[in-house]
Amino acid sequence: MSNEKAWEDLYAEIRQCTKCTLHQGRTNAVPGEGPHDARIMFVGEGPGFHEDRQGRPFVGAAGKFLEEMLAGIGLQREEVYIANVVKCRPPKNRDPLPEELQACTTYLDRQIEMINPSVLVTLGRFSMARYFPGAKISAIHGQARRIGNRIVVPMLHPAAALHQPKWKTTAIADMQKLPQILAQATEVEEAKPKPQVEQLSLF
Ligand code: URA
Ligand code: SF4
Repeated sequence: MSNEKAWEDLYAEIRQCTKCTLHQGRTNAVPGEGPHDARIMFVGEGPGFHEDRQGRPFVGAAGKFLEEMLAGIGLQREEVYIANVVKCRPPKNRDPLPEELQACTTYLDRQIEMINPSVLVTLGRFSMARYFPGAKISAIHGQARRIGNRIVVPMLHPAAALHQPKWKTTAIADMQKLPQILAQATEVEEAKPKPQVEQLSLF
């Protein structure tokens, strides 16, 4: 199966999914978007009002702030992959429930596996908890950790940081660390033996 077909299938599956009760209230599921070979992936919480209407992640106020922070480090949103832990909007933007996170996790697992990003940024508590169970976001935000063959960076959720000057400053400062983290990821990648291309030249 080609990569593009695998993506089409995944998005179609998400749009038709009824594995948890969140499907009942959705206008559109929000699978995620961005280049399928992105080196950086952002994982938020779940769609809000505007995301549910448009079927796209981070298109409301939080998305605008995220785009501003990306611009601050010379990145456009089109250069990164953006997804959420749950693909359908929780009623009144309440927190996703454990059973909803559990039902939806396979989709995010597949996205992460297919993109295989060098750097994965978690936005907010729920995506952080996938990598740092039991950790407090106020204690570990902005601290990059190598987990397996990628670097995971927990950051504040832009919607939570947006309206509080102190947290807004913190969110921007954490984002400013990303270029250096990315440079470190590049060093790690370049230190690894090159796959396939060089192996093939043996024949
Ligand atoms: N907040 C999120 O966590 N995700 C979105 O897509 C939008 C707002
Ligand atoms: Fe399916 Fe996830 Fe939507 Fe629940 S939130 S219905 S598991 S796509």
